[in-house]
Amino acid sequence: MPIHASPRSRILGTGHSLPAIVRTNGDLEKMVDTSDAWITERTGIRERRIAPEGTITSDMATAAAKAALDMAGVAAAELDMIIVGTVTPDMQMPATAVFVQQKLGAGTCPSFDISAACAGFLYGLSIADQFIATGQRKRVLVVGVELLSRFIDWTDRTTCVLFGDGAGAAVLGPADAHGEDGAHGAPEKRSGVLSTSILADGSLAPSLWIRGGGSASPATHATVDQKLHYVQMKGQDIFKSAVRNLYSASRDALDRAGMTTADIDWVCAHQANKRIIDQVVTRLEVAPEKILMNIDRVGNTSSASIPILLDQSLRAGKVRPGDTVLMCALGAGISWGSAIVRM
Ligand SMILES: CC(C)(COP(=O)(O)OP(=O)(O)OC[C@H]1O[C@@H](n2cnc3c(N)ncnc32)[C@H](O)[C@@H]1OP(=O)(O)O)[C@@H](O)C(=O)NCCC(=O)NCCS
Repeated sequence: MPIHASPRSRILGTGHSLPAIVRTNGDLEKMVDTSDAWITERTGIRERRIAPEGTITSDMATAAAKAALDMAGVAAAELDMIIVGTVTPDMQMPATAVFVQQKLGAGTCPSFDISAACAGFLYGLSIADQFIATGQRKRVLVVGVELLSRFIDWTDRTTCVLFGDGAGAAVLGPADAHGEDGAHGAPEKRSGVLSTSILADGSLAPSLWIRGGGSASPATHATVDQKLHYVQMKGQDIFKSAVRNLYSASRDALDRAGMTTADIDWVCAHQANKRIIDQVVTRLEVAPEKILMNIDRVGNTSSASIPILLDQSLRAGKVRPGDTVLMCALGAGISWGSAIVRM
């Protein structure tokens, strides 16, 4: 039995922002001992975007949010909650979300960050869905944004080839605002968030972290010398965990929505590694033509990955109103999740 008989919230608009600077695999060949062939074969990445000096996380988040508000036809002043998923905030405190609130000109709505790494957008989507379902909020902005290029050791070939900068956003509102009698037909076809599933397993925290700068290792000359302020990752641990958990979370989201993979029009998976996505969708038995992909052009943008891909696919007319999208993501924590959304 589906837990949600019908959706309670829906995505009213999406947006994204990518910095203009392109760093290709060829550029990286000049920086570390790597090759275009290795990166392309092992990850599917050909290029990624890098934010210029002076651009900060809340700038990219605000640009993505403005595009999402515009598509939704919602004014910033109407927002009654702002959730920002990021592990690369403007600063340790306060939350990046309050800077986004100010840059957008939104009111004094609750504005907070989610630290769930690559799963940050799906955590935010799930929280927004709950607040809207209980009737406590009507217009919630969810942003996934990362400026990972500032937290990468550009001499470490095991991490620097993977990540890119960017932001994606979605504005959510009650499902019935446009649903029952609107363009999307009968209640069982109503657009909205059909299910979400979020999980975490802290036993794998040391497999992917930025150790320095927190209470465990406050910033000192030694933490800088030891490169503790950069991303450190055990890639294979994350790879195996991703294949296993993204499959089970996707199954869980399908079960909660009372659906099978046959009901899914598109898979919008976190773009960490093409091989991970291929293995997950093979296990799910989803046809390859249903897989949305932009990893070749943007790399791994962590929490921004899903909303960037979704927005690009919507604006290209590939994903259309009424289409059902399965989303799934896993990252540091490890934290992971999935969602099924009818657009
Ligand atoms: C990181 C990742 C691409 C590495 O691919 P892999 O197939 O597991 O590669 P390995 O780590 O086993 O390394 C294989 C070899 O390539 C080398 N290598 C690693 N990075 C390299 C690079 N950029 N260029 C060339 N060679 C590289 C390794 O040193 C190793 O060499 P060795 O066999 O001589 O020891 C892969 O593990 C991955 O994508 N993991 C998940 C990452 C992820 O999702 N992270 C974020 C979560 S959101």
